[in-house]
Amino acid sequence: MKLEPFSTGCGVLVHDIQLHSLSDDDLEQLKQAFSQHGLLLFRAQSLTPQQHLDFAKQMGKIVVNKFFMTLEHYPQIAVVKKEKQQTTNIGGGWHTDHSYDLEPAKASILLARQVPKQGGDTHFANLSLAYDALSQGMKKTLSNLRAVHSNEHIYGKDGYYSTTDLADKLTGQDSVGRATHPVVIRHPDTGRNILYVNPAHTIGFEGWSYEESKGLLDTLYKHVAQAAFTCAFDWQPGSVAIWDNRSTWHFAQNDYHGECREMHRITLEGGPLSDVFT
Ligand code: SIN
Repeated sequence: MKLEPFSTGCGVLVHDIQLHSLSDDDLEQLKQAFSQHGLLLFRAQSLTPQQHLDFAKQMGKIVVNKFFMTLEHYPQIAVVKKEKQQTTNIGGGWHTDHSYDLEPAKASILLARQVPKQGGDTHFANLSLAYDALSQGMKKTLSNLRAVHSNEHIYGKDGYYSTTDLADKLTGQDSVGRATHPVVIRHPDTGRNILYVNPAHTIGFEGWSYEESKGLLDTLYKHVAQAAFTCAFDWQPGSVAIWDNRSTWHFAQNDYHGECREMHRITLEGGPLSDVFT
């Protein structure tokens, strides 16, 4: 297995490996690379749905997303699909998966099945590097804050998707919820500090008004979205991305109207998030 930096600030490409036939040594190296880099990218993987599932189980315990359609016979595999005639896509804004859960997902494993001729890239951001680049003053301010994360305004019955042409493809409108997490978390594997807020799900700081929260959140979002911390992955059928939902953001670019894009996602269970003091 060979690792090659994908961009200066974000992700590594993993070469010379097939995810359906990993040795114990390969698996250990992959797990270490995942913790260290937060984003692993692969080309030309030949995976059946069962092999996708088997690989995911080697990486952790699966958690099922409440809102997405699933693949026939594979309830653990979410289908992230935009049909030719649809205009809305899933995950079209910066976010991290499941931050609205009390114990947010550790990772997501996304496999490209059908991709447009051009476009449909997924953008990623490195929240660990972005945190490191903040000033000491900002770090100190953030270290005492907690933020509220919700999915109601997105997946709820009056949420964003209810007004779009994806409304009848999503489920779970009654299963919406919220959670509060530290704004700066300590990564459970690496011990690194990470900025843990995201534009899609963070609705404000605990104890702050909406307007007060918005000002600081917008400043942080602009900081994270800089080219120095981000990259864009161009998919081919068989490409795979594994991202750490604690230390990265992602969004799917919606720039391929009239074409179909179909991705299969398996999400892995995480745990409670610790602040920088514990
Ligand atoms: C997602 O947000 O999980 C979907 C990302 C993608 O389709 O590129």
